[in-house]
Amino acid sequence: MKDIELQTVSKIDADLLKNFCCDVLLKLGITKESADIVSDHLVWADLMGISSHGVTRLGIYVKRIQTGLTNAKPNIHIVRESPSMAVLDGDNGLGQVVGVKAVELAIEKANKVGVGVVAVRHTTHFGCAGYYALKAIEKDMIGVVMSNAPSTMAPWGARVPYLGTNPIAFGIPTREFPPILLDMATSIVARGKIILAAKEGKTIPEGWAVDPEGEFTTDPESALKGAVLPFGGPKGSGIALMIDILSGILSGAEFGSHIGSLYDDFSKPQNVGNFIMVFNIENFCPVNEFKERVELMRQEIKSLPKAKGVDEILLPGELEFRRYVENKRSGIQLGPEVIKELKEVGKLLSVNFPLEGEN
Ligand SMILES: NC(=O)c1ccc[n+]([C@@H]2O[C@H](COP(=O)([O-])OP(=O)(O)OC[C@H]3O[C@@H](n4cnc5c(N)ncnc54)[C@H](O)[C@@H]3O)[C@@H](O)[C@H]2O)c1
Repeated sequence: MKDIELQTVSKIDADLLKNFCCDVLLKLGITKESADIVSDHLVWADLMGISSHGVTRLGIYVKRIQTGLTNAKPNIHIVRESPSMAVLDGDNGLGQVVGVKAVELAIEKANKVGVGVVAVRHTTHFGCAGYYALKAIEKDMIGVVMSNAPSTMAPWGARVPYLGTNPIAFGIPTREFPPILLDMATSIVARGKIILAAKEGKTIPEGWAVDPEGEFTTDPESALKGAVLPFGGPKGSGIALMIDILSGILSGAEFGSHIGSLYDDFSKPQNVGNFIMVFNIENFCPVNEFKERVELMRQEIKSLPKAKGVDEILLPGELEFRRYVENKRSGIQLGPEVIKELKEVGKLLSVNFPLEGEN
């Protein structure tokens, strides 16, 4: 069965896929600008090989817009502001639309005063934190982006979920491609990988998650009913907590177990929070000097003696940008499940999915 599934995996051109997502979103009455942002984000994630946050999310975004829990035409507005910071209210808009507005505002402030900090409330799932850090990189600035997320992770010492897998990204502009982009969940492993193991009937390594009784489990189904665990024990748990305090409590969004689940809670908007910091390098030191020194550091690290079994020392983001270049050239590989989902969404909104002969 698995062999057959592998054979039917198909590749699709990134622009075709982006147009499809955009056409679907436009049917829901969102603006062209917003549809472009969300489609670009989803396809970027697939290009980077972060398929857990790619076009597979389109269906749930559509469903939440249709139920009115995500606002198709949000009034995104500033509620508090100083020259270096702002609190932005996303009015329950699509997380990517709000996230891009927030990072653009942070960049604008960093341009004027050297640093821009934007805390966001009333937003929804924003996908990959790294996408927003990349917007700062494109302006020769450093971006630090975090978000809280619905409760699926047990804080250190607890056996039930409270925190989310709260992601954090650091984006560093470099002289040579690729930039350095650390973009990570604060759980040992993204929950999407456990969902995938469950779908494929595989076990998961011990240490990733606990079952509802708090016992380590290798069964993905009981892991999904239980809790994922933070990376690095109490340290990862502490970082996830800090991300939630900045993204949720400081911003005025929800926090911990109060955040609405994207997939399982249709009784209220999610009220996710983000926290975005942008540093204008030129205010600290000449950009070229910064980039030269980062390049030197990169070369020094890459030429270190390699650990046993390692072929090449990589910096954060390197793997993903390699996949980006390759997928842009040869197309994005979508599994049969995702193609099926997209076809269903397309059918629902009378948009043709541009891949023939599958399923
Ligand atoms: N919006 C949300 O609620 C939410 C929640 C959790 C995660 N996410 C997103 O999920 C995505 C995946 O997160 P993840 O933690 O599963 O990512 P991951 O574990 O695949 O990678 C994490 C980081 O480690 C780096 N890395 C991986 N292997 C490496 C190696 N051999 N050498 C050097 N660096 C290496 C990667 O480049 C990346 O920067 C991210 O985009 C994150 O923002 C979003």
